[in-house]
Amino acid sequence: MALRVLAIESSCDESAVAVLDEERGLLSHALFSQIELHRAYGGVVPELASRDHLRRLLPLLRQALAEADTTPEQLSGVAHTAGPGLVGALLTGAALARGFAFSRGLPVIAVHHLEGHLLAPLLEDEPPPFPHLALLVSGGHTMLIRVAGLGEYELLGETRDDAAGEAFDKTAKLLGLPYPGGPELARLARDGRAGAFVFPRPMLDRPGLEFSFSGLKTAVSLAARAQPLDDRRRNDIARGVQDAIVDTLLRKTARAVEATGLVDVVVSGGVGANLALRTGLATLLRSRGGRVYHPRIEFCTDNAAMIAVAGLLRLKRGEGSFDLAITARAQWPLTDLNQDRHTA
Ligand code: KG4
Ligand code: ZN
Repeated sequence: MALRVLAIESSCDESAVAVLDEERGLLSHALFSQIELHRAYGGVVPELASRDHLRRLLPLLRQALAEADTTPEQLSGVAHTAGPGLVGALLTGAALARGFAFSRGLPVIAVHHLEGHLLAPLLEDEPPPFPHLALLVSGGHTMLIRVAGLGEYELLGETRDDAAGEAFDKTAKLLGLPYPGGPELARLARDGRAGAFVFPRPMLDRPGLEFSFSGLKTAVSLAARAQPLDDRRRNDIARGVQDAIVDTLLRKTARAVEATGLVDVVVSGGVGANLALRTGLATLLRSRGGRVYHPRIEFCTDNAAMIAVAGLLRLKRGEGSFDLAITARAQWPLTDLNQDRHTA
């Protein structure tokens, strides 16, 4: 019988539940974003996030099951994000997953959030072939990874300081844009002039695949200080920031393509929703005979559909546990997954 999993995501500020069937595909995905709740504080407040997950998850679970026309008896397992993320937020999803699974005698799969992002393009009509290269760019991570298969991840390079999404968010804040700044800054950049501001592209002069984005804040704060900070100047600065981040990501990806010989590239994580990055990658890879694969825009940012994909593949492999111990890890290196992991 085809496997069917229920998946729960609650690692940061999105509460989400999805149902995925091995044969019929994604049956439902319900999501509540807490963005409005955190906006007044300019960033995610962990305690508020946990409390809101508590309020939202159960109704979302009911909604996801109803929309999937699925009863608990039809499920083969329950997946939940076990880390990395805000530990209080993770605990809410983990406790719900364990409690629900225990009451129904179902196995639980503790999913790595980044593995979810990496596998999200498998939900699309043309999934990426293995092996491929992945550019994982989110609010917390910037990584280039060689992906040979499920749980076969070689980290080729990552950021030494700020993540790409963090760089978008922090510079957007300097321009007075609301949280989360990435999409707002991208919107302003559309009306900005290329070359009006040229911001540093660190680490490009050195070999290797490491990133560093923390210097961007200083350069942008200097540019933003000059008055008047009118719309035109703001748009031009936004364009300069986006060009600096995207250009850096493209040039390092080009290096990784050269180094590995892999021309199929997955881009995922919140910054993967950025149109300039997507089109830049498409052009880069076309000229090398490859192509870019990305999740649909709504599955670039956090969601439970991607957790369901990882959960289903791991369940299929025989993983999952009936243990009641709750798994939640604030820190969890992706490469830990490369070891055989039969106890979730
Ligand atoms: O993957 P995600 O939802 O959460 C993490 O796991 O971090 O990524 C959120 C990040 C935020 O920093 C947000 O500003 C950024 O993705 N982001 C964007 C865009 N959409 C979301 N950055 C640039 N351009 C966008 N269109
Ligand atoms: Zn994420």
